[in-house]
Amino acid sequence: MSMLIPARKKLTVKSIQKLKGQEKLVMVTAYDALFASLFEDDADLILVGDSLNMSFLGNGDTLSATMDQMIYHTKAVCSGAQSPIIVFDMPFGSYNTKEEALKNAIRVYKETGADAIKIEGGAERAEIVEHLVKNGIAVISHIGLMPQFVRADGGYKVRGKSSEDEAELLKDAKILEQAGAFVILLEGIKSEVATKITNELKVPTIGIGAGAGCDGQVLVWSDMFGFFESFKPKFVKKYLNGAKLIREAFSEYKKDVKEGKFPTDEYSY
Ligand code: KIV
Repeated sequence: MSMLIPARKKLTVKSIQKLKGQEKLVMVTAYDALFASLFEDDADLILVGDSLNMSFLGNGDTLSATMDQMIYHTKAVCSGAQSPIIVFDMPFGSYNTKEEALKNAIRVYKETGADAIKIEGGAERAEIVEHLVKNGIAVISHIGLMPQFVRADGGYKVRGKSSEDEAELLKDAKILEQAGAFVILLEGIKSEVATKITNELKVPTIGIGAGAGCDGQVLVWSDMFGFFESFKPKFVKKYLNGAKLIREAFSEYKKDVKEGKFPTDEYSY
């Protein structure tokens, strides 16, 4: 697959919305051109998640990610994949006011090929979402367990366990839909609550740790391919034992080098 010629037709915000009720949406994170190109044929949306601050940069949470870092990685992802919708995850502190949010979102559109941005927060962010949408920015709202609130909340907590919380999540989702979000991302929410939200909305939901009733699913690539060995959230299905495979392959290379078995004539000029 070429990095320059799109393998299939470019997806749009409208075509993604039309898939609600027709076909499940496939979303995955990517942080560079290489992995983006591997996902290009099968992903409907690629999220340049601020999770890169943890999985790529080795930090304990997402909070120290910056606009500059996110833009750097988004440019790389956009050069690796053209057909999926590329989503820029607005980092913590970059959208506290509607003016700041718009200034930063315009920077994203001007400096990268991203199609949309994602922001965390419920009804309290509705005014910001509306302002962005009115000014030509496509927005995904992220509710439920919100990693950017981890320090304020004192940890990662599954949402929707009480009827009050269920009502709050449903209200958040409806208000954000009304504000113009084209997708609502549901993270760490009890399955039955996420299904109820999905059934009540006209826009698609994409879940992570929110059960099978959502309109689509997203996973962090380094989780789903088993590159993290120390911690695996319950909602992550490991599709590859990546860390083990890389370690084994690398120690084979090390053995060959130490024993003078690499390079042979086949790999020499
Ligand atoms: O940053 C990220 O990868 C995310 C996903 C967990 C949805 O926001």
